[in-house]
Amino acid sequence: AVKDRVADLMSRMTLEEKVAQMAQYVGLEHMKKAEEDLSPEELHNNDALGFYPGLHSSDIAKMTEEGKIGSFLHVISAKEANHLQGLAMKSRLQIPLLIGIDAIHGNGLNYGATIYPTPIGLASTFEEELSYRVGKETAKEMRATGSHWAFTPNIDIARDARWGRVGETFGEDPYLVGNMGVEMIKGFQQDDFTGAEKVIACAKHLIGGGEPLNGTNASPLDLSMRSIREVHLPPYRRAVQEANVFSIMTAHNEVNGIPCHSSKEFMTDIVRKEYGFEGFYVSDWMDIERIHTLHGQAESLDHAFRMSVNNGMDMHMHGPKFTESIVEAVEKGIVPEERVDDAVAKILEVKFRLGLFENPYVLEEKAEEVVFNQEHQATALEIARKSIVLLKNDGILPLPKNKYKKVFITGPNANNETILGDWHWYQPEDRIITVKEGLEAVAKDKGFELDYYNSGEIIGKTTDKAISTAASKASKADIAIVVVGENSLRYDWKNKTCGENTDRAHINLPGRQLELIKAIKKTGTPVVAVLVNGRPIGEEWLEDNMSAVLEAWEPGSFGGQAITEILFGDVNPTAKLPITVPRTVGQVKLYYNHKPSHYFHKYKFTNKDPLYAFGFGLSYTQYEIGNVALDKSKIKGDDTFTVTCGVKNVGKEDGEETVQVYIRDDYSSVTRPVKELKAYKKVALKAGESKSVSFELTTQDLAFFDQNMEWGVEKGAFTIMVGNSSRDKDLKKVKLEVSETKKLNLND
Ligand code: IFM
Repeated sequence: AVKDRVADLMSRMTLEEKVAQMAQYVGLEHMKKAEEDLSPEELHNNDALGFYPGLHSSDIAKMTEEGKIGSFLHVISAKEANHLQGLAMKSRLQIPLLIGIDAIHGNGLNYGATIYPTPIGLASTFEEELSYRVGKETAKEMRATGSHWAFTPNIDIARDARWGRVGETFGEDPYLVGNMGVEMIKGFQQDDFTGAEKVIACAKHLIGGGEPLNGTNASPLDLSMRSIREVHLPPYRRAVQEANVFSIMTAHNEVNGIPCHSSKEFMTDIVRKEYGFEGFYVSDWMDIERIHTLHGQAESLDHAFRMSVNNGMDMHMHGPKFTESIVEAVEKGIVPEERVDDAVAKILEVKFRLGLFENPYVLEEKAEEVVFNQEHQATALEIARKSIVLLKNDGILPLPKNKYKKVFITGPNANNETILGDWHWYQPEDRIITVKEGLEAVAKDKGFELDYYNSGEIIGKTTDKAISTAASKASKADIAIVVVGENSLRYDWKNKTCGENTDRAHINLPGRQLELIKAIKKTGTPVVAVLVNGRPIGEEWLEDNMSAVLEAWEPGSFGGQAITEILFGDVNPTAKLPITVPRTVGQVKLYYNHKPSHYFHKYKFTNKDPLYAFGFGLSYTQYEIGNVALDKSKIKGDDTFTVTCGVKNVGKEDGEETVQVYIRDDYSSVTRPVKELKAYKKVALKAGESKSVSFELTTQDLAFFDQNMEWGVEKGAFTIMVGNSSRDKDLKKVKLEVSETKKLNLND
């Protein structure tokens, strides 16, 4: 029936009206704010915004009434959404608007939203069910405030710690990223995104943006097609085939000479035809234009728009000229009208399924009931507790009740909203628990007095005096908690050190943070470092000198509470790193699933191992994993096999351990990574308890692209490794033999 409604509507649309459905513009409030805050020059040249010269918010309002706009992005309140839909209802065909927003970890661009830990923290839970819940709850908050389309999950494979957007990803492993991405999409869309509480998701960015040439956003990817297919594309294939993701955003970057926004190979040949993608593509901000203005592949903007649409693009994100150009191109036969019809049919299908034709508006009063409700708060807190990785502990943690009478807390991230991470706008103070506030709330119960000192911001504002004052205060305390890291706040554009469009050539603690910690450490007071950051921080000194190090990532609305609970042992840490932490920027790109020769030679003067390995994370108890066995020693064809192991909690606290299974093809016609994660399970164990854990794997898990780029498994020996991190010393190994070489169907 939806298809019939689409066909009926399209039969009544002019070409201009159809192409208008492919045009998206930025929300009026967002644009007005930018017009107020920025000079005309900044408005049009700013890296992050890049608004079109001469385009004004009043033009956009008028165009909406005239039916020239099909979609908006970044509409930041229910009131604004209703206003825009009202404008659209004045147009000839009264087609409702599809409103998209970067709801990356909650609907944070809206005031008062529940802000969950950023995706890198979410992935540290190794629990994809939590990713599902984030999607489902965020969808409800979005619909309550008038948005229908989440520009997430970001399923880029993050292989470069310099890249500012690492925190938006689920890390470096294709399997974990795929699991997290698939479940988040299911949470957002449910089965069919029909009804008033669901939204469509957007898998992004096709393809390879997480491995930029020099670590800077949008720089080119020059990589073998084998790597792209084996590492970067699998999460997209799964997003399409397992979760029916209904939109995909293409990447800023070029891949092997072709800008992703003009890539027929990725948009049409691989993802649409080979994987069976049924949804629509949206461009990223100004990126179709950049096919001409930056990449120099198209000779004019017209050329760029037409090349992109002909190669598979369905919707243009923000800016004039696109509609006129495509209308003219259809009239001249440069773009086939069927291509436009194909794009428009999908966009309208979404609007019908979401129920927007029945009711494009939202009840503004109802938003209050949904946004930041008790259930969503509980989820945000639960994920924060499960996302914080204990990297080092000399035994000081958990802090016993009544032992440390005077606790000192300082550091640039101790008492501000950096715990919310990127992709949120100003939020009410009473919906954020900072680390200082988390500690304050328990001080009486735990029997300590809290001394807080504001040592200044990360960039440019930590003075000599602030450092000496912090040290002097620390010297009078029994323990110092120093909260350092990065700043991903998008409204603090000049000072942010991480997040979108904030790449760095270093991965150490920016500013004078290390000086601050060193001065505090020198006092002799024991120091616990709490890291609040988006990308991995490579700072060996902390590992060597701190009593304990907690990687909190950007833990969201309840971050300060979760950190406090972990510091005092009310919560036993369970999180594991979803990304390798290098020692220094010189090791980048450093990832666990590297080729055998990648680290054959040592560095002179620097250890070649990472500072912290993928899959690593400590607990307040200890686990032993043993008795690793296979149900068969030889397999062939489509056989499955079972890996079992025993896991025992040999410490004194109850806890949960994530058991991980890696494989290696020992000898193969194409070189294979030294390890690839293929399964994991989180196991709850009381102190002293043991359990047996099993994993079912198939020949698909052993497959790769052979020399002819055909997917299959090769006969020979494989090593199956089981443990609680990707480090060799944490893994127990068994051998498996595959007795025949066999081609497999990639899409099974
Ligand atoms: O969704 C984002 C994308 O990830 C990066 N560029 C801007 C888009 C819209 O905000």
